[in-house]
Parts: sequence; C-alpha cells; structure tokens
Amino acid sequence: MISTFTFGGVKTAVHIQENLPSLKNIQSIWAGAPPSPTLFVCDSNTRHIADAARGRDESALCILESGEGAKNWQSVEKILEAAQKCGAGRDALFVAVGGGVMTDITGFAASIYMRGARLAFISTTLLGMVDAALGGKTAIDMFERKNFAGTFYPAQAVYMPVSVLGTLPAAQIKSGLAEIVKTAILDEESDDDIAFEKFYALKNFTTDKSDVLKKKLAKLIAEAVRVKARFVEADPQETGEARVLLNLGHTFAHALESSAGLGKISHGEAVAWGIARACELGLARGKTPKARGEKIRALLGALGYEIAAPHPAMKSLEVFMRSLDDDKKKKAGAFRFVVPAERGAVLIQLNGEKMEEMNLIKNIAAGAGA
Ligand code: GLY
Repeated sequence: MISTFTFGGVKTAVHIQENLPSLKNIQSIWAGAPPSPTLFVCDSNTRHIADAARGRDESALCILESGEGAKNWQSVEKILEAAQKCGAGRDALFVAVGGGVMTDITGFAASIYMRGARLAFISTTLLGMVDAALGGKTAIDMFERKNFAGTFYPAQAVYMPVSVLGTLPAAQIKSGLAEIVKTAILDEESDDDIAFEKFYALKNFTTDKSDVLKKKLAKLIAEAVRVKARFVEADPQETGEARVLLNLGHTFAHALESSAGLGKISHGEAVAWGIARACELGLARGKTPKARGEKIRALLGALGYEIAAPHPAMKSLEVFMRSLDDDKKKKAGAFRFVVPAERGAVLIQLNGEKMEEMNLIKNIAAGAGA
C-alpha cells in the first residue's frame, strides 16, 4: 500500500509492504537513471537489512554505532565524509536503515549535505514506523540535551517492511504499540469503542508472531500513519496548535524517562504511563470525561503497561519534578500537557506558579490522587 502526504511542501510516499524494497524501487525516486550515488546508512544491527536492499554492492555504505549514543556530531561527519568519498553530488540519495536513531541522524546529515540531498528511509522498528520516520523531524543530541540540534526535512520515501516486525523482541513491539494507542486516542474521526477493540485483539502480541497478528499490526500502522500525517500536514513545523497534540502523555513520559535514568524503561512504556497520568490531569481540569479516561487506562492495562503511580522505575518524586521543571524552562516557562478530551485531545498549559497547580501535578505523579 502506498500513501502520499505533503509535509511543508515536500511529498512523502509511505510504502507499507511485506518485504524490503529493492535498490531499483528505492532509486525510482529519480525519474530516470540515478544521476548520483546512493548512500545507505545503517548500524551493526541493521547492516544485514541494508545489504539485502543494496543488492550486489552497487551503492555506498556508512555504518554507525548503534543506540542513542550515536546521535552526535561525529556520526553526522561520518555520513558527510562517506557521501563525499563516494562522489555524491547534490542529487545524491541518502537511505537510512533502522529505527528513530538512524532516521534522525541520517535525515539531519541529508538536510545539510550540499544544502540538501535526497532522502529515503527503510524503517525497521515499530516505533520508527509509526512515529520517527514520518513528519520530517531530524536531530542529534548535543550538550547533554536530547534532539538539541535538528531540522525539518521530510524523507521523500519511507518504506515500512512489516516482515521485519516478526523478528523484533516483544519489548520493542510493546514500545511501538503505545504510540499507536496514542494516535488512536488523538483520532477525532474515530469511535473509541471500535478503535480500541482492535488493540484488545492484539493482547497476545508478546508471544504471538503469527501472520494474522502481523496483518492486524500492519492495519494499525497504516491507521497511525494516516492520523499522524493529518496533524503534521496541518502544522508541519509545530508552530500552530495541531502537531503539538502528538505529544499526548509525553510531558509526564519524558520526566519519567529522565528520572528513571535514560534507557531504563522504553519510550513506549513511559508514554503509556504518561497517558494514564494525562487522563487524571485532564479529569481534574475538566477536559477528560471520566468514562473516556477509564476506557483508555483499561486498554493500556490490558496491553500489559504499568499505569499505576508512582512508576516503579521512578527514582524519586523530587528528581521527577526537577525533570518536569527543566522541560518547563525549555517551553517558554509553562508546563504544557496534552490530555484526552471528549474526542481527540487538547493542550493545557499550567504556569506552575500557583501552589495548587504544583500540588496537583505532584499528587498525580505520586499516585496520591488528583
Ligand atoms: N514525535 C512527534 C512529532 O513528530 O511531532
């Protein structure tokens, strides 16, 4: 299935398909014969996928370290150097093979190579498919800040080969699934009862690798892509009120990830817990209907996420509150929370100056009730 979206004037073709694309498929980004080299960027975990897609060594390869630690300036330099060495011109095509780390770094490098090379992604994780690979956010970490430097530079083609999902560890599927639940909550056009039922059918995803499960997952990926694309098309650079809603549950989630210690819990687990907290905050501020909040929490619980507060991975409430405060400083001095609404979600901003607001957030994080 191919769907085409336009993000800030750039067309992105999303290919959700069973198998890997061939080199010929990927190079069809050019109308005729490739005018410039194709450079594949991967890490040691995805090298076999890059090799399978490259075919018989017809294109250049740059192998980076794996993991978040690779999202740095050295990796960008490595990609730029590899591109220069293989004689890539402005027309060159960079192809990232991997999850969010690979697509973020490669996207950034492509955006500055001779003021912008062509870009395609082969997304190999569930989280990457439903979030990172789509919408043009590129980044590297700097000065101990995640995603400190980056650009908006959408890939022209994103391949999502669902056959790779069968080889992913259950924890990675679980991490991606939380973002898909998030988009289902955000989808104002769908009915919760119908949307959520599809997730209940996936309850055994940790042990079930059957084709039926993969097919169900592929449908959910397609829906999540459609919903995310709608928000990004409306607000490609997050300057308006649409794209920010994709951060549902993320303010609580980021603070939990920092207070647990980076890498201690998966992003998806933190997002699921953050959505549960957002339901409580939304209820306390009169934005989330009680029944909808309960429905969302029941679904997250059934999928095996820890939704009770405080989260067992949280080192201390003080560290958690400090992380929230750091986030507030970055966001023009206000706590910005996206919470479920009657349909979809809404943004609420608390300046945190009133003791009552701080106590509300603290109580929610501590499980002391809203
Ligand atoms: N990950 C949220 C966004 O792409 O805006």
